[in-house]
Amino acid sequence: PAPTKAKILHLTPLRSKRVRVRGWVHRLRDQKGIIFIVLRDGTGYLQCVLSGVAAKTYEALTLTMESTVELTGTLQPVPEGKTAPGGHELTVDYWKVLGAAPGADDAFTNRLNEKSDPSILADLRHLVIRGETASSVLRLRAAMLSAFRESYAAHSLTEVTPPCMVQTQVEGGATLFKFDYYGQPAFLTQSSQLYLETCLPALGDVFCVQESFRAENSHTRRHLSEYTHLEAELGFIDFNDLMTHIEAIICETVDRLLANPSTAALIKSLNPSFTAPARPFLRLSYVDAIKWLNEHKILHPKEDADGNEVKDAEGNLIMVEHAVGDDIAEAAERQMTDIIGTPVFLYGFPKELKAFYMKRMDSAEVDGHVFTESCDLLMPGVGEIVGGSMRISDSDELIAAYKREGIDPSPYYWYTDQRKYGTCEHGGYGLGVERLLAWLANRYTVRECSLYPRWPGRATP
Ligand code: 4AD
Ligand code: MG
Repeated sequence: PAPTKAKILHLTPLRSKRVRVRGWVHRLRDQKGIIFIVLRDGTGYLQCVLSGVAAKTYEALTLTMESTVELTGTLQPVPEGKTAPGGHELTVDYWKVLGAAPGADDAFTNRLNEKSDPSILADLRHLVIRGETASSVLRLRAAMLSAFRESYAAHSLTEVTPPCMVQTQVEGGATLFKFDYYGQPAFLTQSSQLYLETCLPALGDVFCVQESFRAENSHTRRHLSEYTHLEAELGFIDFNDLMTHIEAIICETVDRLLANPSTAALIKSLNPSFTAPARPFLRLSYVDAIKWLNEHKILHPKEDADGNEVKDAEGNLIMVEHAVGDDIAEAAERQMTDIIGTPVFLYGFPKELKAFYMKRMDSAEVDGHVFTESCDLLMPGVGEIVGGSMRISDSDELIAAYKREGIDPSPYYWYTDQRKYGTCEHGGYGLGVERLLAWLANRYTVRECSLYPRWPGRATP
């Protein structure tokens, strides 16, 4: 009978039938004249057995890993006592090579493994993603994004696609990528927040999944120059509603992933000890976090008035306690989150540490500092994965904020209009997709969580 063409994922109902599959030679083993191929087609892995004449041809004897092949045969349950992906294997009776790969002295088979030099792994990322771990991370990423979309639909948020090419900044001029736009200065977007705010009166609560760009010269394991930014904006809420919403969206998305057996298996294979975080998340004010750091003897390098680190006579950094007004640096933040060991909302940051658009918190000054209705969500192992805030809703207050930050208000006319034509109390947040995935999939760096990561000096492949 004519074979049924099928993808590996859909083979189970075709057991004992003749089938035809196509894919890449993922693993290859010659055992006493019988050739075992693990075939990979992107939907799964299938063990295929070539014996007799089929295993003796020139093509069979010179077959290499990563070649593309077409295999036809009968799908058999694996013999008792043996295991194979899907519980079946293909007894091949007819096959051909569609595209041979170089084999023996080739980069993929010889040079690449987990211990390879990071710059080789980065240059050969297009081949690395064929591996089991890298492709599992990318598959989990896809599942995570669709689960987020389902969670947003359940909360009645509408998806929009804001532009990447912009003429306004959101998170400060220092990290903008600038380019020439038909003779005018323009930037790659740092955040779609301002556009989302303008959508509230049009569409109600909204979200987007959009690339953001940061010209940060940070070579850390959690910074990228381009990252996928999941942002949402909600109208007629207060600060407490905002944090409750962030927590709900993240927990419901994780629950969706764990409720799906194939995604749950992916998480288990990448991150065996993963458990869904308990709700509610701990909420710790910035002022209390400063006290906590000092109580736990977590210090930070002393800086001079220009922000340069100060060293002693022997050239060692001078470490000092945190004071209200200090930025909580990545190292201190990470130590704190790892000791606490659960997700933490850090909230109420001093105004001078945060962006111009943030609403002031109704709380007493401490050491001359005023605070904002802002929050960062910190995850163990990664640190900050979400940054959010309530926004200034009054147009005069916003105009004063532009002035204080030295921002020319004219290119922001449309943003100011959001307050002029019927304002509302509103807030939102941005979530770093690669950072959340690093937490979920237990990856050491966000670079493993991006298809083709960009960091200072790297824009290839
Ligand atoms: O804290 P950020 O800068 O906040 C904003 O951009 C707000 N305008 C978002 C909003 O309210 N709509 O960035 C938000 C998140 C961070 O918490 C982090 O997860 C991620 O974006 N992020 C980065 N991820 C990878 N590489 C970088 N360089 C990142 N910078 C920020
Ligand atoms: Mg932030």
